[in-house]
Amino acid sequence: MKVTVVGAGNVGATCADVLAYKEIANEVVLLDIKEGFAEGKALDIWQKSPIDLYDTRTVGVTNDYARTANSDVVVITSGLPRKPGMSRDDLISTNAGIVKSVTEQVIKYSPNCILIVVSNPLDVMTYCAHAVSKFPRERVIGMAGILDTARYRAFLAEALNCSPKDIQAMLMGGHGDTMVPLPRYTTVSGIPVTELISEEKLNAIIERTKVGGGELVKLMGTSAWYAPGSAAAQMVESIVRDQKRIFPACIQLDGEYGIKNCYLGAPVVLGKAGVEKILELKLNEKEKSDLEVSRGHVKEVMDALDKMNLM
Ligand code: NAI
Ligand code: 2OP
Repeated sequence: MKVTVVGAGNVGATCADVLAYKEIANEVVLLDIKEGFAEGKALDIWQKSPIDLYDTRTVGVTNDYARTANSDVVVITSGLPRKPGMSRDDLISTNAGIVKSVTEQVIKYSPNCILIVVSNPLDVMTYCAHAVSKFPRERVIGMAGILDTARYRAFLAEALNCSPKDIQAMLMGGHGDTMVPLPRYTTVSGIPVTELISEEKLNAIIERTKVGGGELVKLMGTSAWYAPGSAAAQMVESIVRDQKRIFPACIQLDGEYGIKNCYLGAPVVLGKAGVEKILELKLNEKEKSDLEVSRGHVKEVMDALDKMNLM
């Protein structure tokens, strides 16, 4: 299996590193526009192989898309990250131009690949890559839900003083403050989380999760990379190993949840064909109305992208 990661910055290099040391692919091509940058990161990851004992080949290239040819999966992380005070949506014009040109190049050399989009604003960049590639929607998937649920699960594990391994959770909606964590679909080793934590504490964790990305931007002056890079690699793994794992991921909804032509996080089955199924949960009235707020927000940013006439 061959995987390309576009963007050798914080998230892209972390993702390539996880793909290599977990031997998720035989070959990982890391591509960046900055001369020598991807080459250096890929060489560093390759030089770690005798220490961590893996044999995935990592190759870095500067804008040489021919070297990415016939990739099975391509992860797009190129684009500006947030700085303190910025929302993800503030990145739209710069990152849409980057995601558009990257997608055009990628599909020229890997017309049958599955695209995993990471660049922000995530839901709208997934829309951009889908519109530009014209791939079936099953092959254009945005990464956000694994990261957002991981933050939620980590906060819960801390509050409950238990292992994060035992916490399962689902979340829907856009990757932003309107995301919809679903406590009704959160369990700790099969026990509904609501039996283990007070409503007040659970609500505080949900609110912290919604602004979890911003918390890290304030601390570091740029956005997170360890959890995002691992989250993207976990999606690649489920696809290349045909694991059919169920994750929240962003995809174009086409009637599911009564929503059409909007890109939102929903529970999906990830296997060798990409998104093999979208699961439709029975949402209650509050969850439906929260999802509608999220849909409205994402649609506004999609409309803003449409007005730029880039695609
Ligand atoms: P970074 O600045 O460390 O890396 C971005 C890289 O993209 C840079 O090395 C840059 O040279 C490269 N790049 C820019 N234009 C390019 C082009 N046309 N072709 C190839 N490479 C190009 O940023 P970081 O922290 O890695 O974040 C990357 C993106 O991922 C940002 O948009 C960020 O907001 C987003 N992000 C999304 C998350 C999610 O959950 N979906 C989580 C974390 C970050
Ligand atoms: C995050 O949630 C910025 O989207 C990025 O960390």
